[in-house]
Amino acid sequence: MDAITQAKKAAGEKAAALVQPGMLVGLGTGSTAYWAIEKIGEMVKGGLNIRAVATSLASEKQARELGIPITSFSEIQQLDIDIDGADEVSHDLQIIKGGGGALLREKIVAMASRRKVIVADERKYVKTLGKFPLPIEIIPFGWELVFRAVQSLQGAPTLRTKDDKPYITDNGNYILDCAFGAIENPEQLHHQLKAITGVVETGLFINMQPTVIIAYENGDVKTI
Ligand code: 5RP
Repeated sequence: MDAITQAKKAAGEKAAALVQPGMLVGLGTGSTAYWAIEKIGEMVKGGLNIRAVATSLASEKQARELGIPITSFSEIQQLDIDIDGADEVSHDLQIIKGGGGALLREKIVAMASRRKVIVADERKYVKTLGKFPLPIEIIPFGWELVFRAVQSLQGAPTLRTKDDKPYITDNGNYILDCAFGAIENPEQLHHQLKAITGVVETGLFINMQPTVIIAYENGDVKTI
């Protein structure tokens, strides 16, 4: 296992240790959240009694295979803890998510959770957001109009593709990856983007007061 994968595993496992018996747990998406889910799966096999909501079909499949009981918002109101990855976390704890395409469900689950825990390796922890292109989830109909509106905000959008076709999210939508450069005011940008008809959600996770667990290649793990 290389040093970055080791760091992701360490961050995921540290977050999993925060899960207590009886909790309702949000399961994130991506290669770091993967390790948290694996660890929670082990804990469930060892007798831990929890229920979880997954932020993507991929994470739900992983959780089911590990025997983690899955629930939904038709049965519960709120989660106790949500453990998820990030594409960038700024020093003032604003976040870009959506690199894995799950940003909409991730935000719904995060907003429904009392405690939000972000797990990331050291490369994601940055002074200012924006080196990672900001994903926004948009409605397929008329997507070109949203594309142009983002261009007019200097967002340099690219329609995400897979096998030369538009990438389709778990919700049947498209994703624009938008290069805004340094994002000095994430809150303002989030609201500007949400005001465009056809934008479903942005990957800016703002003012969520998360617990952030950063794992370093040298083996250190810091909780911020
Ligand atoms: C998926 C996400 C992921 O949490 C984010 O892309 C980080 O993934 P990884 O841990 O694989 O780097 O937002 O939509």
